Amino acid sequence: SKVKATNVFHQANHVSRDKRGKLLGGFRGCTIWFTGLSGAGKTTIAFELESLLVAHGFSAYSLDGDNIRTGLNKNLGFSKVDREENIRRVAEVARLFADAGQVCLCSFVSPFKNDREIAKNIHTENNLPFFEVFVDTPIEVCEKRDVKGLYEKARQGTIKAFTGIDQPYESPRHPDLVIKTENASVLECTQQVIDLLQKNNIIP
Ligand code: PPS
Ligand code: ADP
Ligand code: MG
Repeated sequence: SKVKATNVFHQANHVSRDKRGKLLGGFRGCTIWFTGLSGAGKTTIAFELESLLVAHGFSAYSLDGDNIRTGLNKNLGFSKVDREENIRRVAEVARLFADAGQVCLCSFVSPFKNDREIAKNIHTENNLPFFEVFVDTPIEVCEKRDVKGLYEKARQGTIKAFTGIDQPYESPRHPDLVIKTENASVLECTQQVIDLLQKNNIIP
């Protein structure tokens, strides 16, 4: 039965963000949320950025749709309601990573505007910076890349509810950054996110 927990009370941690920051060489906790079609370049850019940040001594950690969906969210599919629950849970996890002082990199299709708004609110309600990055690659390019052969299967009808084919992708209206990958290198795209982090004083 779906009985909600009642009589639960917020328990405040004793370690402040300032104290955590002393241990980490500055508190840089935030979430960078990559959204875009399958094959747009979310995972590639997020993982490259994670490597670069860690190489420079900044704690960063990636959460990726393909990985989360075999663990935490393995009981969820790709219906609209399941995607919403997927994003809600991931946003709650990302919030914990960010609160722990990590630069949390989330790469999820997250096709619905409402779900991304929920993810953002989970952060802003907790005074954690949240950056929405739209990896804006045209579907023709994603389909041509067809990294995992999923577009071919979606066109054949063996995969249902595939984003951009038989389920919608709602483009962000006011993202913090738009990345065009079609005629750019992975490093050029990654640098755009670094610039965003510097502009917002997350990293020096
Ligand atoms: S969502 O919409 O944010 O809940 O999706 P996400 O958790 O990012 O999972 C997307 C990855 O699952 C694979 N896959 C699909 N994607 C879109 N639609 C359908 N129907 C689907 N079925 C499987 C695919 O590998 C996605 O990863 P990316 O990296 O985007 O290709
Ligand atoms: P997603 O996680 O959004 O599904 P992937 O990162 O798995 O996308 O796949 C993107 C593909 O596009 C990779 O094969 C990658 O090498 C290629 N690609 C080409 N140019 C770029 C770029 N500028 N940024 C990111 N990926 C790129
Ligand atoms: Mg991916």
